[in-house]
Amino acid sequence: MCGIVGYIGSREAYPIVIKGLHRLEYRGYDSAGVALMNNQNSLNIYKKAGKVKDLEDFVSGKDISGTVGMGHTRWATHGEPSDRNSHPHQSGNDRLAIIHNGIIENYGPLKEELIARGHIFKSDTDTEVLIHLIENIQEEENISLQEAVRVALHQVIGAFAIVIMDKDDPTELIAARKGSPMVIGVGKGEYFVASDATPIVEYTKNVIYLNDNEIAYLKRDELLIKSIDNIVQTPYIQELELKLEMLEKGGYDHFMLKEIYEQPRSIYDSMRGRIYPLDGKVQLGGLVEYSEKLRNANRIIIVACGTSWHAGLVGEYLIEEFARLPVEVEYASEFRYRNPIINENDIVIAISQSGETADTMAAIQLAKEKGATLLGICNVVGSSIPRLTHGGAYTHAGPEIGVASTKAFTAQVTVLTLMALYIAQIKGTISQSKLISLLTELETIPSLVEETLKTNDQIIQIASELQDSRNCIFLGRGTGFPVALEGALKLKEISYIHAEGYPAAEMKHGPIALIDEEMPVIVIATKNSSYEKVISNIQEVKARKGKVVAIVTEGDVDVKDMADYSIEIPHADEAFLPLLATIPLQLISYHIAVMRGCNVDQPRNLAKSVTVE
Ligand code: F6R
Repeated sequence: MCGIVGYIGSREAYPIVIKGLHRLEYRGYDSAGVALMNNQNSLNIYKKAGKVKDLEDFVSGKDISGTVGMGHTRWATHGEPSDRNSHPHQSGNDRLAIIHNGIIENYGPLKEELIARGHIFKSDTDTEVLIHLIENIQEEENISLQEAVRVALHQVIGAFAIVIMDKDDPTELIAARKGSPMVIGVGKGEYFVASDATPIVEYTKNVIYLNDNEIAYLKRDELLIKSIDNIVQTPYIQELELKLEMLEKGGYDHFMLKEIYEQPRSIYDSMRGRIYPLDGKVQLGGLVEYSEKLRNANRIIIVACGTSWHAGLVGEYLIEEFARLPVEVEYASEFRYRNPIINENDIVIAISQSGETADTMAAIQLAKEKGATLLGICNVVGSSIPRLTHGGAYTHAGPEIGVASTKAFTAQVTVLTLMALYIAQIKGTISQSKLISLLTELETIPSLVEETLKTNDQIIQIASELQDSRNCIFLGRGTGFPVALEGALKLKEISYIHAEGYPAAEMKHGPIALIDEEMPVIVIATKNSSYEKVISNIQEVKARKGKVVAIVTEGDVDVKDMADYSIEIPHADEAFLPLLATIPLQLISYHIAVMRGCNVDQPRNLAKSVTVE
């Protein structure tokens, strides 16, 4: 949700900033802009509605020199995507420039007050209000810019990660954060600042994750971090694990396809060092301290949004099945606003790929206030949610750049599977022999995912049959139900085909009215405990001339005979079905979207990291 990048040092800033914007474009892509301080201390600002590429075309032939600069790629919140609403924004005297990720909630009253004092605004954004506020404070109180930024940040309500440049002081960048992520890259005689480490990694491995309510003053050779209350902070420099090749397409046409194909690895990485099949043991270091709490917990509440919420639903089945502990799965956005009943014996698990989703963060904040134990399942190391939670386990999916989540989902399901088995192990609700057999099979899942990916060619053919559909229904039962929901979400978000996921048996309570020869119905019909029931559901669809695409277990003949198309996946225990059945659904969505000419990696209106509610 908006990407920001800044540089101060001795290299040319523009190439670093523009490359950084390309890397951050997954966070928002409706407009982009840069501010560059040239050697004559002129502040050149270029901004454009559209993609980073449009900005690049726009600056061609213009003065892009300078060793201090910053850039922004936007996902609009206040004000439509347009040139004038693009960042950077400037103060009324054009001296200061700002880029911002987040939302200034009280920008309305602040703007009115500033207008009354004579300020004239050129955009509809909350960001412009903040830079005018800083200018106003500095001029009225006759204080330094550093001090004015600090005073202004005390007055704003909301979330922000900002970078400010001052035409009168080309030796400094000021950066601050509250609620929106910000990483500082520490180089030799240079500093970088960005929403995440992706623009930084090729220049330095040393990073500092700025904490909430901290302000960083960056000069070429000096970094000072203070709290918003003016107390000097000691920065903690960490080494990045991120590798450059993780951020490139590696020969694939799209990041999404690359990420789909990375799943054998990301699932393996998410269980590596955590399962011991021979001993029948699961080890999750981030949960050990909470073993007693987990053993005595009344229930588990899972909070998440979107795809992560679907992973949570899989978790519900698995935790209840193996650990015999009641689980509720909540949309974080609903949970946070409905005065939920939570007590000290509740464990709240927050699931988030980005670790920055505003609603999920607010939900865990609320649960924390009510005394619950908080565990996180996140993919981005150092992001906010792992820092807000007491314990948890990272998914090791690596950077997910395609906006539609794929490998993060299966990594989340993997970690939830491990958590379910871990809790079962400490509660004694699973026998040792069962654990041994499940873990032995779990270890083979990455290679079964590899097998499943071989259905790609067949899926291309099916996708070409479905590409002109206007609607699509996904059905599943048991753990196949969240898989159906996830399949529908993937299809709608990247191909713009309206799609709904249902528990297969619910179809006859309403959605069946939609079925005719135009309606594709994608059914998870693998051989598990609800196989016979799903067969009945397929017959109901066929009786109404619906077009059935069935995901079946290899060797199946019954469903194959009934369905218009069937895709075979390897046999696996029911618990692991989501890790396999999801793969063909991701591929179907991907190929349909490509055939329809959609921007697969950057679907319209979306952004990867939703840091506003
Ligand atoms: C869909 C998708 C979103 C995210 C949701 C939560 O493909 O990616 O639905 O799952 O925005 O994001 P995280 O997991 O970062 O909290």
